[in-house]
Amino acid sequence: MSFGMIATWRMAYEGVVKMTAELAKGVTANQALVEAIKMVEDYPYYKSVGFGGLPNEEGQLELDAAFMDGDTLDIGAVAGIQETKNPIVVAEALSHERFNSFLVGLGATKYAKEQGFEQQEMVTERAKRLWELRLEEVQKNNLSPYDGHDTVGMISLDQAGKMVAGTSSSGLFMKKRGRVGDSPLSGSGFYVDSQIGGATATGLGEDLMKGCLSYETVRLMGEGLSPQAAVDQAVYRFNDKLVERKSKAGALSLVCMNPQGQWGIATNVEFSFVVATETEAPEVYIARPEGNRTEIVVATKEWLKAYDLRIKKPLS
Ligand code: GLY
Repeated sequence: MSFGMIATWRMAYEGVVKMTAELAKGVTANQALVEAIKMVEDYPYYKSVGFGGLPNEEGQLELDAAFMDGDTLDIGAVAGIQETKNPIVVAEALSHERFNSFLVGLGATKYAKEQGFEQQEMVTERAKRLWELRLEEVQKNNLSPYDGHDTVGMISLDQAGKMVAGTSSSGLFMKKRGRVGDSPLSGSGFYVDSQIGGATATGLGEDLMKGCLSYETVRLMGEGLSPQAAVDQAVYRFNDKLVERKSKAGALSLVCMNPQGQWGIATNVEFSFVVATETEAPEVYIARPEGNRTEIVVATKEWLKAYDLRIKKPLS
């Protein structure tokens, strides 16, 4: 049996490196995915996931996360959870509940506290400063406040052939209080069936959820398309539909994998992603749309260095 992981954005790299090494030793897809996403949530310089994520327009950090088991199709999710160190761990726990498996806002935070999930202040000094700077900029230049929303979405496949999917995100920077994106929504932010494969998304939640693109990608794999053909069809057809009907489409980026460890990726904007399988060493790639196909290149050393400098850039 093969094993592998695929995830959105460069930020997943360290977790994928560590946990594909563990998958090679036989850990479960669940363990690999939860640990890898926790590593992203815990890193303070990733400003769109977990600790250090950027706040909503009222300065509070509301986090969304989901977990799906591809064997049982069980799902757990939280939206707008606060002061909880690892939303992915809460989502995974909720996936074992028969009822009340998707909790939002105060209810999600209360559940996490009562069940003993680690609580902490999640807004860092850096995130607060970025929020203040953005507020000043928006007021001065009469800008739309909305900005980046780089969800970590991940699919993991273990040696027993089990697949799981997970997401974690602070959502849209400067979002309205209570706004929920695609990340905790089944079919939009993620979907996985161990017999077919899994897909997960990043981009503008308001547009991703119009197309249920994770489910659509898995459905097309189930019809017999390769992962790359399935995700190309799901993303580019829907992008064209949005452009035709509304004259624009927000960012739509998806990654997918099947139970053989074959993978695919499609996007209407440039974005980075990470893959490792039994036969492919962990690598950061850059993907770009090329007509209705996807161009994929390995991220250069220069790109990786510039990324590191950018996320740690001192703030005024
Ligand atoms: N894709 C994350 C969000 O829109 O919240």
